[in-house]
Amino acid sequence: MSELKTFIEDLPKAELHVHVEGTLEPELKFALAERNGIALPYTSVEEMRAAYAFDDLPSFLKVYYEGMSVLLTEQDFFDLTYAYLEKARSQNILYAEMFFDPQAHTSRGIAFDTAIKGIRRAQLEAEQELAIRSQLIMCFLRDMSAESAMETLEQSLPYRDWIVGVGLDSDEKGNPPLKFKEVFARARSEGYRLTMHCDVDQDNSVQHIWQTLNDIGVDRIDHGVNALEDDALCAEIKRRGLALTVCPISNSYVTDGLKAGQVKQMLEEGMRVTVNSDDPAYFPGYMAENLLATQKAAKLSKVQILQLSINAFEGSWLPENDKNGYIEQLSEFADAAP
Ligand code: HPA
Ligand code: ZN
Repeated sequence: MSELKTFIEDLPKAELHVHVEGTLEPELKFALAERNGIALPYTSVEEMRAAYAFDDLPSFLKVYYEGMSVLLTEQDFFDLTYAYLEKARSQNILYAEMFFDPQAHTSRGIAFDTAIKGIRRAQLEAEQELAIRSQLIMCFLRDMSAESAMETLEQSLPYRDWIVGVGLDSDEKGNPPLKFKEVFARARSEGYRLTMHCDVDQDNSVQHIWQTLNDIGVDRIDHGVNALEDDALCAEIKRRGLALTVCPISNSYVTDGLKAGQVKQMLEEGMRVTVNSDDPAYFPGYMAENLLATQKAAKLSKVQILQLSINAFEGSWLPENDKNGYIEQLSEFADAAP
């Protein structure tokens, strides 16, 4: 086991599903609250963590949005992002694609520019100082209107070069992919890559995944575990070579279990499945802990763990040449591993 743990820790990794606002650890939340003169309804980190009592997507989202109230200034977004990138690099994550939720900030009076400028500055500094590369994906909140998403898309256009793609998150119930068909068509025409959350065990999960393929034309699927309920759907995802960004520890909080067996099944079926952390400050565990938990629960082999990392680099939105460089690095790592 400890040999596998070392293998997982040392493995060069890419993370494709992490919400930067979901990396806000209680310690930083307290520090930012103090800096901004905001009173929090908790007296200690322990008390705050104890209040993280969620057991489904809506109850998680309530805590997640409340937590953002301490993010006010560009420096706050810098500190948040830099802390995640530092933690990620300590786990040998060499490349990260991070989501951010601009509407969760603009809806409380924080300018789009404030959030993105802080995040961007942290990305550039982390690349220089820590040698971790990253790109940004802008998510629309699916429980807000399609008009609001379209306005947000327009707000993003001056920053087109800082954003690689768009995604869709927040509460899926009653908010199918189809609701955002026009927004995503426009995003595609602006040159953005497309992804959408198809959260685990939602109402109409399978139907929603089909919509992402047939109505939206996504380049990736976030979560998407329920695809396994439909053989034709799996075959189509595989045919298109789409990556699925599964988040095991997150699954264990918002539905039942890690769904580690499903990760293994996808690997065995040759689907481009990846393992990610989602909101690691809330679903405790960064990428290494997610890989370890999945390995342990499903008894993944080293070859399968390596494949998860290959899948992440292949499924990333890096230029082909850069992907190949990382995959070469992975094969050198595998050759040198005991
Ligand atoms: N699902 C939907 N919305 C989210 C998530 C998630 O896992 N994390 C942050 N917003
Ligand atoms: Zn997510």
